Amino acid sequence: MVTMNRNKVVIVGTGQVGSTAAYAIVTHGLCNELVLIDHFAEKAIAEAHDLDDGSEFQDRHVKVHAGDYSDCKDADIVVITVGRKPPANSTRMAELGFTVGLVGDVVDQVMASGFNGVIIMVSNPVDVMAWYAWKRSGLPRTQVLGTGTALDTSRLKTIIGEETGLDPRNVGGFVMGEHGNSQFTAWSTVSLGGKPFSRFLADNQDRFSSVSTAEIEEKTRTRGNEIVAAKHGTNYGIASTVAGIVQTVLWDERRIVPVSTLLDGEYCEHDVFLGVPTELRANGANEIVELELNDEELAKLHHSAELVREHCKGLL
Ligand code: LAC
Repeated sequence: MVTMNRNKVVIVGTGQVGSTAAYAIVTHGLCNELVLIDHFAEKAIAEAHDLDDGSEFQDRHVKVHAGDYSDCKDADIVVITVGRKPPANSTRMAELGFTVGLVGDVVDQVMASGFNGVIIMVSNPVDVMAWYAWKRSGLPRTQVLGTGTALDTSRLKTIIGEETGLDPRNVGGFVMGEHGNSQFTAWSTVSLGGKPFSRFLADNQDRFSSVSTAEIEEKTRTRGNEIVAAKHGTNYGIASTVAGIVQTVLWDERRIVPVSTLLDGEYCEHDVFLGVPTELRANGANEIVELELNDEELAKLHHSAELVREHCKGLL
């Protein structure tokens, strides 16, 4: 059973994503202690000092310091962000060969410390890496999760907000499946102001005649690549996603978030990690919410599952 003291988070990898996630955690004051680990120790030290220098102007003081894997022993959460700046016009799956060795080494060192908390996987391809970390760590399924399609779902809401001029927080629903090209928007779950999105558009044709769900879904799917092409990576969106998941787990909020978690019969899928709505608690990923997807959406979920499972073969 996970012992939660709700005060210690470790981030492994202080590149753009890891350091921005650290900044999000510090500015929200989510934990009492934040430890940064990086292959280049001097980078972790510099990031910790830079984060700490603003303490006078932060809501609460988070003790930030560089550390090593022994710091994972009593950590509640370990966030794994190792990887490289993604090449433009590539896919997240294409990162597998580069990332898997790094993630395997990190997981081994985290587990050697005696860690018994929750692993949040960020490294891409995140669904494959989350499955790999779960298998390699030997932790219970609840204690290993990936950011999944939580960021994609936030992007969907943002883009619907852009298209309609309404606050994205009015939008409900989920992007599901792989955090990658086979992801899909489960339109049967998407609502705006409490109304099914399709109904909302139909009832407001005068205002929203130009809004296309197909265009919204494609913009959501390609948003990450569009940003990578212009700035050689993404960091703010994924960092906010990590901070939101850390808060939900650390504070036992029981929010339902489309993180990447193990499907063990849900949606008739097995032995695969996918982004599906999941109840997050202090011990990690708990109940999966099995939505009543239509046949087209179920087919897309199975396609995504097959693709992710295919890329897990041979990794162990
Ligand atoms: C993105 C990265 C995290 O979609 O895959 O921004």
